[in-house]
Amino acid sequence: MMVCTWKLGSSSRPSPPYSRPETSASQVTWVHPAAFLAPKGIIYRVSMLILNKTAGVFKPSKRKVYEFLRSFNFHPGTPFLHKIVLGIETSCDDTAAAVVDETGNVLGEAIHSQTEVHLKTGGIIPPVAQQLHRENIQRIVQEALSANSISPSDLSAIATTIKPGLALSLGVGLSFSLQLVGQLKKPFIPIHHMEAHALTIRLTSKVEFPFLVLLISGGHCLLALVQGVSDFLLLGKSLDIAPGDMLDKVARRLSLIKHPECSTMSGGKAIEHLAKQGNRFHFDITPPLKRAKNCDFSFTGLQHLINKIIIQKEKEEGIEQGQILSSAADIAAAVQHITACHIVKRTHRAILFCKQRNLLPQNNAVLVASGGVASNFYIRRALEILTNATQCTLLCPPPRLCTDNGIMIAWNGIERLRAGVGILHDIEDIRYEPKCPLGVDISKEVEDAAIKVPRLKMNL
Ligand code: KG4
Ligand code: ZN
Repeated sequence: MMVCTWKLGSSSRPSPPYSRPETSASQVTWVHPAAFLAPKGIIYRVSMLILNKTAGVFKPSKRKVYEFLRSFNFHPGTPFLHKIVLGIETSCDDTAAAVVDETGNVLGEAIHSQTEVHLKTGGIIPPVAQQLHRENIQRIVQEALSANSISPSDLSAIATTIKPGLALSLGVGLSFSLQLVGQLKKPFIPIHHMEAHALTIRLTSKVEFPFLVLLISGGHCLLALVQGVSDFLLLGKSLDIAPGDMLDKVARRLSLIKHPECSTMSGGKAIEHLAKQGNRFHFDITPPLKRAKNCDFSFTGLQHLINKIIIQKEKEEGIEQGQILSSAADIAAAVQHITACHIVKRTHRAILFCKQRNLLPQNNAVLVASGGVASNFYIRRALEILTNATQCTLLCPPPRLCTDNGIMIAWNGIERLRAGVGILHDIEDIRYEPKCPLGVDISKEVEDAAIKVPRLKMNL
């Protein structure tokens, strides 16, 4: 059974109707438009210039923070009935903020996506991401608060992603938040980005601990058992790149940005879109790590294999790199299928391991799939075949909560407030951590168990 639920309740006091502020590529402030049209060398020179100008710790000036706070009406109006948390996310290429109350009502949300900018440069250039975060963070936080006329003084706490992620990006969100926390004298809740992805499902569905979580995105790929708000057992992870990264690279190599139907889509989304028109049976690809009886993943070998297929097809079709192959949809379908099979196999072993060790109930155990790649419906259907075969329930947050967002950070703040863990009143020693593992690593134990996974028919 697969259940996808989503609730957006009303706020606890009369307010304008909740609506997601529209943000579009046209609102992106370009760092240096010429950089995106110029040859690669120039892009890097321009980005180095930006880096030199911006590599120091970002500190919004006190005056700016005062100005920001003054822009709010510190009303003595009807107080909120429930605790409310502002969540701020800047770990990668989305500047996002949201306000969520302790019952799970989303009171305001705003997001500024940098996807289109990075698509044009062929990947994320950290100083460019940092600059765009700086240019947008104040507006995004303001929009999240003003959707329900929330004054900063109404907040019970501020929660911000501090790990893991791009150093330059994390720094912007953390500095902004610490200034705000200092001025408002509110508690600060540091958030682990992957924990926030993992717990998002508890905002949209009633899910008790323990449950298994599969996090698949552009930067991460892992399987973990979630036993509590800050109690995670890591069962396996990618040994190289994440599936979203691999799909992005394949999409780039296929030049899907030039495809009229895919030009504004992320690589993974473009692959999913094109795969619907393709025939996966045109290619016979073996899934990675076939013999390793663990829950680890690998996508680099697959990426190289697909590259070879593309080169071969370019020769056959007599076209140059940069032109779109007539077999692009077939390649997209094949890569999507093999990605799904690989993910399902590792997840199958994780389910069997957890049941064998009584870490999960024998019946109706919950598998949660989240992260950008989990918004792929083909992969969800493949996971559904697995959960049906293992008497589990598959739960996925709605696609827009699978990708990075502020709601998951605010919700993680609420979870921590409710559990009374990780709420800081002293922010002296807070630092961001670009690299940070999730939970206690038991992947060696999983490997030692060497569980053989029965064959599953993937009739998709
Ligand atoms: O979670 P996310 O927004 O950011 C992090 O990486 O943390 O995930 C972004 C990734 C990108 O690699 C993107 O190509 C992939 O998720 N993605 C998809 C789909 N939508 C986004 N991959 C496969 N199918 C999709 N529909
Ligand atoms: Zn993410």
